Amino acid sequence: MYTLRRIAKVAVRSAKQKHTLPDLPYDYAALEPIISRDIMNLHHSKHHQTYVTNLNAAEEKIKLATEKGDVSTAISLMPALKFNGGGHLNHSIFWQNLSPSRTEPSEGLCKAIQASFGSMDNMKKQLSAQTVAIQGSGWGWLGYDKSSGTKHKKMLCIMQKYDLKMILD
Ligand SMILES: [Fe+2]
Repeated sequence: MYTLRRIAKVAVRSAKQKHTLPDLPYDYAALEPIISRDIMNLHHSKHHQTYVTNLNAAEEKIKLATEKGDVSTAISLMPALKFNGGGHLNHSIFWQNLSPSRTEPSEGLCKAIQASFGSMDNMKKQLSAQTVAIQGSGWGWLGYDKSSGTKHKKMLCIMQKYDLKMILD
C-alpha cells in the first residue's frame, strides 16, 4: 500500500525536473484475463503518457509566461496544469493499487471500513456516489486521516485532478 505522500513524491516533481512516466511494478500482461495486455499497454504508454507530456508542456509554457511577466497567460494555463497534473498523479496511484496477486483487504482496513461505513458494499456505494460525476471518469480515493487523532475515523478523500476535497463524518 502506498501513501499519498510517497506517490506524490514520485508523481510531483519540482518545477526544475521534467515529469516522467513511471514504470509499472508488473508486466502489461500480468493482470490477464481481468485486464488485457493491450488495454494495459494503451492505458499506460498512451493515456498516462499523454498526461505526463501535457503536464510538462503546461509547466514550460507557464515558466516562459512568468519569465516574461505575462501573468494573464500564466493564469490561463492553470487548468491545463491542474488537469494533466491530476491525471498523472491519479494514474501513478492507480498502477500501485493493482496487483497480479489476488489479495484481500487487511483485517484493520476491514474493521475501519465496517466502523466508518457499515460495510464494504456501503463504502463502495458512497465512494461511487461521491465521484461518479467528477471529470476524468470519476476518480476518487479513500484515505485515512492520521491527523484526525481518532482511530478508524472515516475520511473519504475525493480527488479530482489536483482538487482534494475531504469529507469527514
Ligand atoms: Fe486512464
